[in-house]
Formats: sequence, structure tokens, C-alpha cells
Amino acid sequence: MVFDLLKQKKYPSNSKFDEIYPKLYQEHSARHFTPVNIAIKAAKLLVDNPTDKILDIGSGVGKFCCIGSSVTNAHFYGVEKRKKLTNLSNKIKRNYKLKNAHFINNDFTTIDFKKFNGIYFFNSFHEHFDETCILDETSKVSLSEYKKYHADLMMKLNECNKGTKLVTYYTFKNKIPSSYQFIDANETGFLKFYIKK
Ligand SMILES: C[S@@+](CC[C@H](N)C(=O)[O-])C[C@H]1O[C@@H](n2cnc3c(N)ncnc32)[C@H](O)[C@@H]1O
Repeated sequence: MVFDLLKQKKYPSNSKFDEIYPKLYQEHSARHFTPVNIAIKAAKLLVDNPTDKILDIGSGVGKFCCIGSSVTNAHFYGVEKRKKLTNLSNKIKRNYKLKNAHFINNDFTTIDFKKFNGIYFFNSFHEHFDETCILDETSKVSLSEYKKYHADLMMKLNECNKGTKLVTYYTFKNKIPSSYQFIDANETGFLKFYIKK
């Protein structure tokens, strides 16, 4: 079982891991969901202590939270606006007994970011910017919506406590407020690590 493999540090390939999802989401995975190796690296950057709480903004099918809660001892919370994706994430959590993964069906703007020590963001609003990035029939390409969500994200990130860690994937630095100090990026530059000043 893929989560046992993760706990034993025998990391499954991305396609092997994605077999836990229905076929449609396996097809979406390369574009929309964090690859296994990136999720492991991001989770390890974000977690210092077992008491840490990590928030995934737009958790999709829950892939990042499920992997993060299997390779660390911290608690991972995913907030996702699409109910069917939250339901699928909760089904995976139940089926695989992932007690440290938690999923909330809501807009990320309703969440109190101060409750979290770490934040993960994988370019969640891109479906409003790029019509090749449509996830389902509810996706709406709208530059004003894209800009509004990024302004909301800036505001929520600014509310975080000093020392909060932030990891982004496929997100430009200009989308992150200047209250965050850039620390490092991975070899491709797509995974970036910041700390709130
Ligand atoms: C690129 S996927 C990332 C999934 C997940 N974070 C991962 O890395 O595997 C972005 C997700 O963000 C969700 N999303 C977009 N805007 C949102 C919002 N305002 N509040 C909550 N979720 C949102 C979308 O429904 C989509 O499932």
C-alpha cells in the first residue's frame, strides 16, 4: 500500500501513487496535483515539530496533505472549494486511516492563517488565468477573479505569525508579500521556500 511505502521511505512513483484516485484525476494529476517527490520535499521543509499545523491552500484531491502526513508527524489541513474533491480527499483519509490529514470544504479566505505554522501553495488560481488549465466545468477564466484571489492571498499571508514557513510550487515571487523572506529554491527553481519576517 502506497502510504506504508511512504512511511518506510520507499517512495512510490507518481503514477503508482495516483492509482488511489479515480481515472479522471489520474489524468489531471501531472498538471494539477503535486508530484510525490515534490510533496515529500515541501512537507519536510515545512515541518519542524510533531505539533506543527500545515495548511494547503486549494488542496484538490488531497495529495499533498496525505503525503505530508505520512512522511512527517505533523498535522496537515487542506482547504478546498470544490466539494467533490474534498469528499474524495476525506474518503482517501478514511480508507487509508490517515489520522493527521484533515480536509475542509470552503474558500481559503474563510481560514484563520494564524493557526498554522506552515503554508503550502501550488498556484491554485491558475485555472482563472489560463484556459488550458481548466479542471472541470466550474472553472472560469477571468483575469479580475485571478487578481482578486491573489490580492486575498497576499492579505492572508500577511496575517500569519512571524516565523511562519511558506513553500510555493510553480508560483512567481511577485505573488508573495515582501513580509516573507525568500530562503531557497530547489534545483529547478519551481519549489520555493520562504519565512515570514
Ligand atoms: C493546482 S490544484 C492543487 C492541489 C493540491 N494543492 C496539490 O498540490 O496537490 C488547485 C486547487 O485549488 C482549488 N482552489 C482554487 N481556488 C480556491 C479557493 N479560493 N479556495 C479553496 N480552494 C481553491 C481548486 O479547486 C483546485 O483543486
